[in-house]
This record gives sequence, structure tokens and C-alpha cells, in this order.
Amino acid sequence: MTILPIATIGHPELRIRASEVDPSEIKSPEIQTFIDDLVETMRHANGAGLAATQVLRHQRICAVEVNKNPRYPYKPQVPLTILINPRLTPLDDDMFENNEGCLSVPGFRGNVWRHTSIRVEAYDRNGSKIDEIIRGMTACTYQHEVDHLDGLLFMDKVKDSKTFTTWESFDKFHHHDFVIRVKDLVAKFGS
Ligand code: NI
Repeated sequence: MTILPIATIGHPELRIRASEVDPSEIKSPEIQTFIDDLVETMRHANGAGLAATQVLRHQRICAVEVNKNPRYPYKPQVPLTILINPRLTPLDDDMFENNEGCLSVPGFRGNVWRHTSIRVEAYDRNGSKIDEIIRGMTACTYQHEVDHLDGLLFMDKVKDSKTFTTWESFDKFHHHDFVIRVKDLVAKFGS
């Protein structure tokens, strides 16, 4: 497996909208090897997710996994999930003001409003269809990753630029209050 370089903000290709994967190609060695590399790269960088766009492959594939993540210790666990051609549909208007960071935006975090309940339709890495309801913090993580496939970064969606912080300032001044809000969210939705 290969650790792929992760592009950072300012790289023009982070703004490309990724193309749909032909479902008949999901099981090809090329796609399967790429998925292995994407997962390896995400784990190596301690990401909670990674989208193909971030490693400059412009196909609609992303990975999500939270397993005692040191970057986001408050995130509930999420088993390794590969989403191919994901389509997210909000179930209602309930939103959570999430504080986000991104491997493509090193050093910075900011607040983004995310839907708390979404329907996720996608293919998994075996080409089987996924059709699930995802809620809470995990729904926020999914929305962040799928945004990458549309050429969007979390900072595009930060409404209040005063919420931008370095990771150091976040830990020092904002982490405590945010974790209380996350605990309420996770208690409400179980994820
Ligand atoms: Ni990101």
C-alpha cells in the first residue's frame, strides 16, 4: 500500500468536482488498490475521513473511520466506511454548529453548520448499495467528506470568520465548551 500526498488549500485541483465512478468498475484492481491507499493515507494522517479529491484523484470516493482518533477525541467511533458516488439528503432542518478541521487545511479549524440527520445513498467497496440514515456527529463528518468531492472545503461554509482558530487556540479556549455541546449531540442521536 502507498501513502499518498494530501493536497492543501490553494491547490487548484481541490476545487474540481469529482466524477461519478462507473459501478461496474468498483471491483477493478485499480479502484480497489486506490481504496486501500486512501484508507492507508487517512490512517497515517490520523484523519477521521479522506476524500479522493484530497489525494488528487477526481472520482467520487471517500473514506470515513473514527477509531480513538487523536485529532478528534470527542468524535464517536465510526467503523471504516467507504462511500462511492455518495448522495446525501437532509431529513429535516435540524442543524449543529460543528467545529471542523481538515487535513487539506493544516493548522486551522472553524465552525460550520451541518445537518444532524441525513440519508446516505452510495455504493460500498464491493459495489453493494448503501442506503442508511446517519445522525449526529457522524452525519457532520459525512457532509465534510462529500463536500470535498464537490470541490468544497469547510472554510467555504464558515459563516462567522471569527470562529477560525489555530488548533492550539482551539484547545486552549474553545475545546471545553465544544465538547459539552458534542456530548449533548451524541446523547441525543447516539452517534
Ligand atoms: Ni477535509
